[in-house]
Amino acid sequence: NKRMTIPLIRSMKGGEKIVSLTAATKWMSQMIDPVSDLTIVGDSLGMVSYGLESTLQVTLEMMILHGAAVVRGAKRACVVVDMPFGSYQESPRQAFQNASRIVRETGAQGVKIEGGKEMAETVGFLVDRGIPVMPHIGLMPQHVHAMGGFKAQGLTENAGKKLIEDAKVLCEAGGFSLLVEGTSETVARQITESVRIPTIGIGASPCCDGQVLVTEDLLGLFSDYTPKFVKQYADLGTQIKSALERFGKEVQEGEFPDLSRCFGVSSNKL
Ligand code: KIV
Ligand code: NA
Repeated sequence: NKRMTIPLIRSMKGGEKIVSLTAATKWMSQMIDPVSDLTIVGDSLGMVSYGLESTLQVTLEMMILHGAAVVRGAKRACVVVDMPFGSYQESPRQAFQNASRIVRETGAQGVKIEGGKEMAETVGFLVDRGIPVMPHIGLMPQHVHAMGGFKAQGLTENAGKKLIEDAKVLCEAGGFSLLVEGTSETVARQITESVRIPTIGIGASPCCDGQVLVTEDLLGLFSDYTPKFVKQYADLGTQIKSALERFGKEVQEGEFPDLSRCFGVSSNKL
């Protein structure tokens, strides 16, 4: 299985569906590596792993440490790291300073940034200087206050048109792939048909060139908040709870550890 690269991801436009998953740790990165073409170190880790209310409090340092851990676990997947809120919106120069730290200090192949055509100049600035960028449009969690919560986007005719326009401009600016979150099938299809780069959807219908889910959501490891678009493929949270309950009970009852797990006790197993 050859290593996925940015040009390989880009070349999958309209072909085989792209499988994308998120990871925040080395072990999760290793677990998903055989199936994930594109592993995204999403700033959703702030909510999933840190218990923050939104992604707004996630810092560059958090993304760099988690990004480096995920890169250490990925042998095949292409790894892209989210730029956190406040680290890229001010100017192309600010974005380059922080994106260059991300790629240098993590070993990731690219970055993902939220925003429509207002971010096109920044996308071009980074791409021209060697940093591949995946723009993220539609439901943008870093805009939670502006949206008044996590809500599907582009549902009115005008809002849908604006999203399609954003997609075209961001593609022209040099984005290698487009993340489309929380929009209708109609809009997702029109976006996918109007850009030459692969669209990766989350809550954006099967029309996209690929799909991504937050890994903890699909494994049943995070239940604080489950969006409509999540499909839970396993209920690992329940299995973890029952294993831990058994451990607790065995400790209380003196059943654990048994002699086979003790040093300096005469037994064949030692
Ligand atoms: O933060 C995140 O997990 C994301 C996903 C949509 C990939 O941005
Ligand atoms: Na994100």
